[in-house]
Amino acid sequence: MTLAGKHILLGVTGGIAAYKSAILVRHLCNEGAEVQVVLSKGAAQFVTPVTLQALSGHPVRDDLWDREAEAAMGHIELARWADLILVAPATAHCMANLAQGAAPDLLTTLCLASDAPVLLAPAMNQAMWRDAATQRNAATLAADGKRLIGPDEGEQACGDVGPGRMAEPESLLNAVKAAFKSRHPANPRLAGLNVLVTAGPTREALDPVRFLSNHSSGKQGYAIAKAAADAGARVTLVSGPCGLPAPDNVERIEVTSALEMFEAVQARAAEQALVVGVAAVADYRPAAQAPQKIKKARAVDDDAGPPSLTLVENPDIIASVAELPNAPVVVGFAAETENALSNARHKRHRKGLDAIVVNDVSNPKIGFNSDHNAATLIWADGEVELSYQSKAALAASLIQHLADLFFRPASEMPNARPKLRATPLSSVATSSGHS
Ligand code: PMT
Repeated sequence: MTLAGKHILLGVTGGIAAYKSAILVRHLCNEGAEVQVVLSKGAAQFVTPVTLQALSGHPVRDDLWDREAEAAMGHIELARWADLILVAPATAHCMANLAQGAAPDLLTTLCLASDAPVLLAPAMNQAMWRDAATQRNAATLAADGKRLIGPDEGEQACGDVGPGRMAEPESLLNAVKAAFKSRHPANPRLAGLNVLVTAGPTREALDPVRFLSNHSSGKQGYAIAKAAADAGARVTLVSGPCGLPAPDNVERIEVTSALEMFEAVQARAAEQALVVGVAAVADYRPAAQAPQKIKKARAVDDDAGPPSLTLVENPDIIASVAELPNAPVVVGFAAETENALSNARHKRHRKGLDAIVVNDVSNPKIGFNSDHNAATLIWADGEVELSYQSKAALAASLIQHLADLFFRPASEMPNARPKLRATPLSSVATSSGHS
């Protein structure tokens, strides 16, 4: 199933071809896609929400002012949910609104609010299609990056013959599949290279039932592993416990503690071209793990106070990789709550990293466990902001930046990369010095 797990938002606007949208939903669902349908007011004259709801398995939305759905900003949620928006049929009126960036209803608002690619299947009377205004709008939409599929030529419902028939559902299905394929063209700078990503938290056992850990969900690291695999790299994901499914085409090694993560990374580091440390690794572990569950001290001795805990330092996983002879490009993450940029610049230098990605984890909208992130990528000669976006989008953007910064096309410099010099400490603001 080529569309398995893909979120497709199908917009249906008011034309006679709307009846074909039911077949389209069926095709998309049969390919494994999850489909949500949004109807314009006009579309509801041609096809009923009940039909599309039954076929898609989701409630059909048709109102921007639906009080229940909008209580949780439903249109923004839906805009973020979509991996792709397909408007079929797209009337001349809908195209005109989209070309102008107008958002008078739910569907046009979603198209404007979403970062997902938008595919349009125009359908209208042949004279309307050939009209100069529609042609102007079609050209504007194409220039804005919207993809127009069709229209086909032939006999029309009104009896006219000419261009304006909506492309058949089978062609639209193929266009959707092609859009997903072309979204992830292999990056020639990374294709075939070995990339290792660490992700998730580590757990440092106190006894058989208790551990020290943190709030990392693994989402950012898994998204980076996926983005690297989409770019054509051979990806190994060394993951702490987080319960996420392994991304396609990624070899996952599951570990629990920092020491296990250290060993898994060390064993594979020499064969990597790029190592990205996204894991929230515990800096310290209990000096000893109690063989049995630690008893409440007072249960044993009435006068006993709380037990004290002795910690020892864990090895620094990515710093150890950066120290290797012929080290791969090593990129770390910095989870900061204050003085983010200066702390991260210092951290990059101290760990000998080629680059570091700093995110402010005091902001609950980003960082730990959120679906979104915002960060700054810092390397020896520059910095670039990665604005607030989904972790998946940030991952794709980061991988693109790393490919451009550290890897040359194989035809120019096979197996070579410029190892960047660390920023001189004198140009780095002092920080509190934690890892
Ligand atoms: O998992 P999510 O919920 O999606 O959240 C993502 C994230 C917030 C965990 C991620 O974006 C992030 O910031 N990861 C780094 C977290 C962290 O441990 O930061 P740090 O500043 O403590 O460590 C700096 C770097 O050293 C990191 O690359 C870390 O992987 C690495 N490190 C740290 C300690 C250690 N012993 N070995 C290491 O390799």
